[in-house]
Amino acid sequence: MKVLIVFYSMYGHIYRLAEAVAEGAREVTGTKVEMQRVPETLSEEILEKMGALEPQKAFAHIPVCKVDELASADAIIFGTPTRFGNMCGQMRQFLDATGQLWARGALVGKVGSVFTSSNTQHGGQESTILSFHFTLLHQGMVIVGLPYTFQGQSRMDEITGGSPYGTSTIAGSRGERMPSENELAAARFQGKHVATIAFKLSQ
Ligand SMILES: Cc1cc2nc3c(=O)[nH]c(=O)nc-3n(C[C@H](O)[C@H](O)[C@H](O)COP(=O)(O)O)c2cc1C
Repeated sequence: MKVLIVFYSMYGHIYRLAEAVAEGAREVTGTKVEMQRVPETLSEEILEKMGALEPQKAFAHIPVCKVDELASADAIIFGTPTRFGNMCGQMRQFLDATGQLWARGALVGKVGSVFTSSNTQHGGQESTILSFHFTLLHQGMVIVGLPYTFQGQSRMDEITGGSPYGTSTIAGSRGERMPSENELAAARFQGKHVATIAFKLSQ
């Protein structure tokens, strides 16, 4: 059984969550987990101006995903930063290249799940994940979120990301906050949960 984690990250927050999602998915026996990133659409000049070139070096070794690879997975977990309450353009462009997969129903019945990151606490995490689900539903995927059996999403003693729709992290207004222990635990939970459901569906 193969779980594919497909992400875009500009400053490393989504990458850190993706690593934790992978850890969780690997806990399910017999699961092969692969991490891939969607192609960059911005020039080096723009990335430099945005302060992204240096942080992106940390995950430059992760292979770039080709759309056809989505068809080889039993479950796909997507990670995207919020852009104005929506997925980032890099992810949108990648998904808009999946028309051939859609035409032959190649993703129908696969498990799909989403996690995200935003600078501010109420800056559009839920809208990013829910609007991402539209695309997954058009592809016929079976959507899986982050159930309340992950008890860390109900905690009130600290500010935290995470909702029934999926794991999230709050990066801070200058991106200074990396995912907290609670958010990383949510990511591991989501990865394991998706892999468990994909395993059951494959039986
Ligand atoms: C064009 C643009 C739009 C953004 N829109 C939002 C937003 O609507 N709400 C918010 O809280 N953060 C917003 N952000 C901040 C990003 O979501 C944040 O940099 C990202 O989650 C960090 O994750 P990463 O390090 O994996 O890229 C925006 C950033 C950019 C560049």
